[in-house]
Amino acid sequence: MSNFFTSSIGKKFIMSLTGLFLIVFLIIHLTVNSMIVWDSSGELFNRAAHFMDVNIAISIIEPILAIGVILHLIYASIITLQNQLKRNVNYAALGRYKKRDVTKESNWPSRNMYILGAVIITFLVIHLINFYWKMKFSGDPLLEEATAAGGNVENAFALVTNKFQIWWYVGIYVIGSIALCLHLYHGVWSAFQTLGWSNRKWRNIFNVIGVLISVVLGGGFAFIALFVYIQSLI
Ligand code: HEM
Repeated sequence: MSNFFTSSIGKKFIMSLTGLFLIVFLIIHLTVNSMIVWDSSGELFNRAAHFMDVNIAISIIEPILAIGVILHLIYASIITLQNQLKRNVNYAALGRYKKRDVTKESNWPSRNMYILGAVIITFLVIHLINFYWKMKFSGDPLLEEATAAGGNVENAFALVTNKFQIWWYVGIYVIGSIALCLHLYHGVWSAFQTLGWSNRKWRNIFNVIGVLISVVLGGGFAFIALFVYIQSLI
């Protein structure tokens, strides 16, 4: 069994499972965040964010999510390093005239998954410091602003919409979302292949699912940030 996790297919298997798990989280996260757009009073989003904050199931899922991100990152680094080493050996064998190993099937996202992942992680660190850390640990005066729900419900809406009035902060979200979109475009398709769910008939269907997931998630997060920013200008 330990051989499986260190084998080439085992590593890709872990990448696929953790990747699909992170996608499920992102779908839930986008659904909650979309309430910022549906209800401009912020009440819906504040209630949803509060529910996510105090829900016992979410508290259990959070460390699993963190482990998922870390495993995904470690295995991505190992696979990329090993591929790089293999490629260097192949180039050396082919001679100096054939520098790039670009097959007809490979596209830009598939060749740059690690770089796209690095952009997403950089975005994530900025994101967590500004929202997660403040909500869970440090607090922020904006969170103390009164909400329609009253009581101990934090004003997450005030915190988020205040940040999204800063153009360069919104820019970070747009860049992060584009990287997420391209990363998922190849990632979803690749995960289905690795898990063996992609024969010739299903290949096109999974391709469409990959495009849908990447556009909805990447586009959705960018849209929310841009929506709040444009509204603040009107
Ligand atoms: C419009 C865009 C987004 C908004 C408004 C937003 C908002 C938030 C907020 C308010 C929190 C703190 C929740 C809490 O502590 O209760 C949070 C946490 C988090 N966000 Fe986002 N987010 C956005 C996009 C993203 C994206 C694109 C990713 C991943 C690539 C992401 C990943 C996370 C993670 C991993 C957490 C911590 C896990 C948790 O909820 O406990 N978010 N986000």
